[in-house]
Amino acid sequence: MTGHASAPGRVNLIGEHIDYNGGMVLPAALSVGVTVELEPRDDDRMHVSADQYDHPIERGLEEEARGDWSDPSVGALREAKSLGLIGGGADLIIRSNMPQGAGLSSSAALTVAILKAARDAAGPTAPNDAEIALAARRVENDYLGVPCGIMDQFAVAIAKPGMAMALDTEKLNYELVDLPRGQTFVVIHSGVSRKLTDGRYKERKVECDGAKAFFQTNDLCHLEPEDISASGLEEPMRKRALHCATEHRRVLSMLDALKSEDIGKAGEMMNESHISMRDHFEMSVEPIDALVSTCTEQGALGARLTGGGFGGCIVALVANARKEEWLSKVLALHPSAKFVCEA
Ligand code: GLA
Repeated sequence: MTGHASAPGRVNLIGEHIDYNGGMVLPAALSVGVTVELEPRDDDRMHVSADQYDHPIERGLEEEARGDWSDPSVGALREAKSLGLIGGGADLIIRSNMPQGAGLSSSAALTVAILKAARDAAGPTAPNDAEIALAARRVENDYLGVPCGIMDQFAVAIAKPGMAMALDTEKLNYELVDLPRGQTFVVIHSGVSRKLTDGRYKERKVECDGAKAFFQTNDLCHLEPEDISASGLEEPMRKRALHCATEHRRVLSMLDALKSEDIGKAGEMMNESHISMRDHFEMSVEPIDALVSTCTEQGALGARLTGGGFGGCIVALVANARKEEWLSKVLALHPSAKFVCEA
């Protein structure tokens, strides 16, 4: 039977690089995403066509990742097969209205949509959304070699439009929280593209692992920031750990702020998060810092880099009444930036 499924992109409102360090994160589903049609095959092969690429690709499922756009599809079908959702490979038709290399989880949306389409083809006795998310993370970690956390896959597999997902990445518990009324989270692409596979994401993960070994913990987020400062841990590991511990606390404050509709506080947490990503986690780049500054100078309540970093998108919290005027001023000052969508 043919399977159909879709998955949205996600924007992370706050909580960056802490989903592999024991922290709480706060992503939200986007209105853009990926749709997949899957036809199971008897042989172990995949034929994939995608509206964002000119030519379809055919490959065997036994092939290792080779660095092109068809890799996530092969990885997802391998997982679908080992979960027993398909007996061989599949023909895939992919439609996407998501920018790639933007830090909005186009890869997680694709792998989750393929796994859900395989579940749809298999019928009702299949894995739940959390198990699909875990399988999609294995595609990134084990097949594509990206040592990412669980945030993106959980968000795109489970989050609902109009709500943020407060996800405890250690216990995998989550709570859905309403987005504020009267304000919008606006997503803007900086014009600087980046890939999670380019090595810098991995470098940060290695530095965090160094800090974990020093403190003999798996969970940098629950250390006290004062203890980290005074620990004698060498740089840059000390700064990385400090970002994790403070960012986790900012997520908790932002969550309280959203629940109590304290919008000023929510904006403040976003601004502080950006400073920590810039100065302690050193994952920002100059055009993004400039764009974030313009966003707040022009009246956003808060703004920050979102996603894996080193390029991609920013997210800003803006009052609905001022949104149109604000956006045109920001884009006029940053000609390479482009409005993407709203959370
Ligand atoms: C990427 C990864 C996530 C997370 C973010 C940074 O999107 O896939 O697991 O680490 O970067 O917060």
